[in-house]
Amino acid sequence: MEKTFVCIKPDGVQRGLIGEIVKRFENRGFTLVAAKFMLVSRELAEKHYAEHVGKAFYNGLVNYITSGPVFAMVWEGEDVIKGVRQTVGATKPIEAAPGTIRHDFAAKMDRNLIHASDAIPTAEREIALWFRPEEMVEWTSIT
Ligand code: CMP
Repeated sequence: MEKTFVCIKPDGVQRGLIGEIVKRFENRGFTLVAAKFMLVSRELAEKHYAEHVGKAFYNGLVNYITSGPVFAMVWEGEDVIKGVRQTVGATKPIEAAPGTIRHDFAAKMDRNLIHASDAIPTAEREIALWFRPEEMVEWTSIT
């Protein structure tokens, strides 16, 4: 089953949006298979955002993700990568469709609340970077 990496960034945590965001993915029927509340080291931030090295916003991006606790998760489901990104909305909050997380709660690109993997290879790389295999919980709903 397809899996994706999702991270509620420090602004999402500080604004008390963890429950709201998790609820939206639960409502869509996706399955939570890993989660942790954590501080992000500079080393992890630099690996996670390696593709952005050299861009004007890179240092700000690393400072932002390391500025306070994040809520990192792995979600599973059919087409979960696409589905989660639909629910998250466009990277630029001003372009996010009404009803998406970024439309409803964010206004600025450099404070866009949440990260979600954009493709299968990215999801595999990010899950392996953020979670150890033993932190993943394989389970089936009994309801
Ligand atoms: P994220 O989904 O975490 O992936 C890369 C991040 O870079 C993105 O969300 C934004 O937070 C950030 N980002 C992308 N482009 C810009 C930009 N032009 N200015 C500031 N931040 C950006």
